[in-house]
Amino acid sequence: MSNKFTEFQDQVEAIKARCAGGEINEAERDAALRQMRLEDEWWGDAWMLSPRGEWFRKAKGSDSWVRDYPLELVDPASLPPVPFMDLPQIAYAVHNCTRCALHQGRTRAVPGEGPANAAVMFIGEGPGFNEDKQGRPFVGAAGKFLEELLHGIGFKREDVFIANVVKCRPPNNRDPEPDELAACKDYLDRQVELIDPKVIVTLGRFSMYRYFPGASITKIHGQAQRVGNRLVVPMFHPAAALHQPKWRPLLIEDFQKLPQYIEEARAFSQEVDPSSATQLNLF
Ligand code: URA
Ligand code: SF4
Repeated sequence: MSNKFTEFQDQVEAIKARCAGGEINEAERDAALRQMRLEDEWWGDAWMLSPRGEWFRKAKGSDSWVRDYPLELVDPASLPPVPFMDLPQIAYAVHNCTRCALHQGRTRAVPGEGPANAAVMFIGEGPGFNEDKQGRPFVGAAGKFLEELLHGIGFKREDVFIANVVKCRPPNNRDPEPDELAACKDYLDRQVELIDPKVIVTLGRFSMYRYFPGASITKIHGQAQRVGNRLVVPMFHPAAALHQPKWRPLLIEDFQKLPQYIEEARAFSQEVDPSSATQLNLF
């Protein structure tokens, strides 16, 4: 497999080799690496590879660099079934997915973004106009509000993983249909399994139904419920709270509870289970 992304990786390796060989020092190496950019003419995106070896993308129309992985580095010949994929493979599969009719109207699919080991995962509904253009979740008005809510509790957007129950934009932002939710489900199932967050926050009805089918958001919002080894907290969708001013303070209030929920979930996920205790005794 050779393409402009593998060539870019080779150039980065060459710079690292010059440092390893003593030709340049580490500060010079890092400065050189930070200046290197790869332009993707097709989408208008810019890419860079950090000194620590992590890929970042700046989508056309955005001014932020976001952790991402080039699909050009995923080998399509070695894609396993979805339940065995890693995160880049899921992104690859989602971008090429034609399982439901939503693929017909998409500009770009939106697999989701964030650290692979995030303690908190937000699950929204589906991409809107801006998300569909950039291939990133929550970058429009609702995304701005979500970022404000995160800042309000001392979090940064980069700290959390953000995904959606459908990965392609429904026409005119209509609600996702049951067959579309079903078709898209196992991508999100696998993302949750891999990221293994302590706390999942569902935003809006459709992601709440994933865990609490038929529940009423006005009744259960802000209440954490234990699901397996984590807490799931249903919240109003930020876009809904922007349109319904009475929900805004409720959403802000629910966000204030998040740090406490993370603590709680950390505590019970560290409970020693009897089988590992026995093992410890053996040593
Ligand atoms: N609303 C969502 O539910 N998801 C997005 O990604 C953006 C807006
Ligand atoms: Fe595939 Fe999900 Fe997009 Fe439908 S919404 S085409 S299932 S990725």
